[in-house]
Amino acid sequence: MISLRLYCILLFSIALVAGEIKNKVWWKNIVFYQVYPRSFMDNDGDGVGDLKGITDKLEHFIDAGIGGIWLSPIYSSPMVDFGYDISNFLTIDPTFGTMDDLDKLLQKTKRLGIKVVMDFVPNHTSDQHEWFIKSVNGEEKYKDYYVWLEGRENNTKPPNNWISLFSGPAWKYNEKRNLWYLHQFEYRQPDLNFNNPDVHKEMNDILRFWLDKGIDGFRIDAIIHVYEKDGFPDEPVVYNKLTLTTDNYLNLNHIYTKNDPRNYDLITEWRKTVDEWTDAHNEEEKVLMTEAYTNLTNLMKYYTYGADISFNFNLITEVNITSKPSEFKHVIDEWILNMPDGKVANWVMGNHDRSRIATRYPGRVDQMTILSMILPGVAVTYYGEEIAMEDNLSITWKQTKDPQACHVDPEHFKELTRDPNRTPFQWDDSIDAGFSTALETWLPIPDNYKELNLANQKGKPESHYVLYQTLTKLRSTSIALQNGTLKTTVLNNDRVLIIDRQSNNEAIVLLINFSDDVAEVVDLTDHLPGATEAIVILANIGSGITWRSMVLVSSIELPPKVSLVLFAKVDGSHSDS
Ligand code: NOJ
Repeated sequence: MISLRLYCILLFSIALVAGEIKNKVWWKNIVFYQVYPRSFMDNDGDGVGDLKGITDKLEHFIDAGIGGIWLSPIYSSPMVDFGYDISNFLTIDPTFGTMDDLDKLLQKTKRLGIKVVMDFVPNHTSDQHEWFIKSVNGEEKYKDYYVWLEGRENNTKPPNNWISLFSGPAWKYNEKRNLWYLHQFEYRQPDLNFNNPDVHKEMNDILRFWLDKGIDGFRIDAIIHVYEKDGFPDEPVVYNKLTLTTDNYLNLNHIYTKNDPRNYDLITEWRKTVDEWTDAHNEEEKVLMTEAYTNLTNLMKYYTYGADISFNFNLITEVNITSKPSEFKHVIDEWILNMPDGKVANWVMGNHDRSRIATRYPGRVDQMTILSMILPGVAVTYYGEEIAMEDNLSITWKQTKDPQACHVDPEHFKELTRDPNRTPFQWDDSIDAGFSTALETWLPIPDNYKELNLANQKGKPESHYVLYQTLTKLRSTSIALQNGTLKTTVLNNDRVLIIDRQSNNEAIVLLINFSDDVAEVVDLTDHLPGATEAIVILANIGSGITWRSMVLVSSIELPPKVSLVLFAKVDGSHSDS
């Protein structure tokens, strides 16, 4: 007979095996890459990217040193908001292919060791989703899946003054229900009602469905918009000089439609669902990333409530081409200092909603890419940034596809359009930049593709792509970048920024000269104890500085606009972070 003691030991060891989440925090030093599927690679020649196209090009991620990709939505959708209007969360839109195509993609990513994160869009569905159709029809179970309300003035006016992010009232009247429904985005993107427990259940089932498929995590869309204030009060009107038209989103102070405290609890709920699944399947930890354009305090709450990566957009939203080193230092330091213990920092440089780096930072694109790679934690790259693609600013009103822009007028669409930063990836100088064989691609490719393309940059002694590869390689080999301390310093009258990473005897230092016309000389003796010389690992393209040359630590010359990454051996007692 088995003794009680042995029985207890056995039980304990089974519990250990079953409950152990494997490969914890695998994303700690990873580069994540956002694939915008419509624009990455078109396999079937219809001018729109697809899953087979992505599968064909997976080796590119290995070549570029990328550890994980996140896919913008590939689910069934009428494509009003290019996939962010989902009509079925569990099926693939034919534009992108089939479930079989996704399975094949996942088999190959697993083989290559690339993680795959899917977009999860909980705030709204498409008006073509069967839940909404049933809700419109008043079917009992679905009646309250969405936010329905009676209008003002005998139901002839919207229930309140709320404005949609895509301009105009955030309410749409529906004749059949004789009620108004809420849509924080386009009117064909009705908001789900999270006061309904059935909606929670649906969302948790969706998460489990995709986990069963074998994906590695979720990027959670528009989380700050999910809950609205009970009672639906009017929002205060603000006078905004920048405002395009009176029905523009900027006209209101969104105290009742953004940042509701219950949004954080949702993250905890989904964390639990994902962790329970992972435990039960004895699987690797899954990553949760949250998309929230909000203040620092709120961003940190997403970490606290269960996100692994609360997207840090501050290098997009808080600084720009005119910012000084001290402003960059502030943005970096405040993120690091405010992050809850044990969490991983992240630096987002671009996405499908924002202008590209090369367009935001003319002449300084490498500076920003280098910065995101030298800072601790996760770097997030938007497709095309590895070759420094630019916005296609020549897209006309007639060619415009983005609903956010189509909802204004020919005079103002350029201020809102996201099309210029969503154009096809520029693979080579052949027809359609090697993206497609179609007569016309869904968005026009800028003429610069003949020179600005991946093939042209590969294997060059120096190019944006080679710089990118050098950086990702450095991240995977350097202890200082993986575990080192971080020190940010402003020198030379706020014209030079120093990012100093050290671990034991190894130092990696980034120096950026922010001046457009003044050369600077920097003394790093105090930063690099015991070192008299350092190796230039890389410098921005066009700097004229030879990679792998040596510099004297006491007088490092920094021509205008130059960014340098140095390696030095130091007398180190730096503890790892
Ligand atoms: C955030 C997405 O990033 C954006 O592209 C989309 O338009 C809105 N959510 C609505 O889903």
